[in-house]
Amino acid sequence: MQFTLSSVLVISAVVLETLAGTWSIGDTYIGQDFMNSWAFEAEADPTGGRVTYVDQSTAVADNLTYVSSDTLIMRVDDTTVLSSSGAGRNSVRIKSNTAYDYHVVTIDVRHMPEGCATWPAFWETNDSDWPSGGEVDIVSVNSVSPNLVSLHVGSTCSMPSSRAESGTPQSNDCNINTDGNSGCGVENPTTNSFGPDFNSAGGGWYAMERTSSAVSVWFWSRTDSSVPSDLSSGASSVNTDNWGTPAAYFPNTDCDLSSVFSSNNIIFDITLCGDWAGQSSVYSNAGCPGTCVDYVNSNPSDFSNAYWDVAAVRVYTTETSS
Ligand SMILES: *[C@@H]1O[C@H](CO)[C@@H](O)[C@H](O)[C@H]1NC(C)=O
Ligand SMILES: *[C@@H]1O[C@H](CO)[C@@H](O)[C@H](O)[C@H]1NC(C)=O
Repeated sequence: MQFTLSSVLVISAVVLETLAGTWSIGDTYIGQDFMNSWAFEAEADPTGGRVTYVDQSTAVADNLTYVSSDTLIMRVDDTTVLSSSGAGRNSVRIKSNTAYDYHVVTIDVRHMPEGCATWPAFWETNDSDWPSGGEVDIVSVNSVSPNLVSLHVGSTCSMPSSRAESGTPQSNDCNINTDGNSGCGVENPTTNSFGPDFNSAGGGWYAMERTSSAVSVWFWSRTDSSVPSDLSSGASSVNTDNWGTPAAYFPNTDCDLSSVFSSNNIIFDITLCGDWAGQSSVYSNAGCPGTCVDYVNSNPSDFSNAYWDVAAVRVYTTETSS
């Protein structure tokens, strides 16, 4: 009986795998849901940024986090001049209480943090099991690059140099032990994927699908005519087979995705400077003044555009037949 039942489960799992593409909704996060179902991570920034991540009560008291019926705003402090010997600029990092294995996550964003020194991210990991649990960076931008989508994992994993994606691969080694933690990054093909151009169009949508056979990331600007209606309407089910060629595609051909990833939480953060945006080459290539840390310390009002305005995050957790 035991054997028969598990055989049936294995067979149905295999059948469902072949139907990947149609998913039904698991969790919807809008406005207050982020306060109730996500944790504020008041921790030292693991990426060494010039920020101090605050807890929820401080974030609300200082209006660094604000929710309404259809909006989540998260921002960095834009009023305080910092002492160079003191703590970094107050900012926010939040993490979904729920962790997800195979799933589709979609995000409808009106505005993302922009400007010199800013490094906002919307990403997934298990931060108590990094890098063994894997990491997918869906949105990760500094002040100059287009959005960089990447995987960072803890063991052998590489990507074919030619694959079905519209973005441009930067590196095909995803193993942090051999790639210096640069990840296997893919640049989005358009500048409206990040910062000023993203924001002036009214933002847009990102979506990520993770199955045992591939991780795929798509992006549509608010004004794109090709945005799928199931995605933009926040439908209760979505069919990723109709979403077209992804901006970034990470197949399992030379990477056992089922072993390099475990369940991941979803994270939003806004850091400043740090391991990527604070590299002097990255910072000065963006035409930014002086040094990154001095700039953050001395120019609070320049961070008034360093905010996320999020309409919704939806997570589709069940693969279903159509
Ligand atoms: C808090 O931020 C929201 C969103 O930007 C804004 O509408 C509101 O006026 C702010 N509240 C205060 C007290 O500044
Ligand atoms: C995250 O990693 C920790 C440490 O290995 C583990 O205890 C926990 O179960 C993991 N969380 C999930 C959701 O897999």
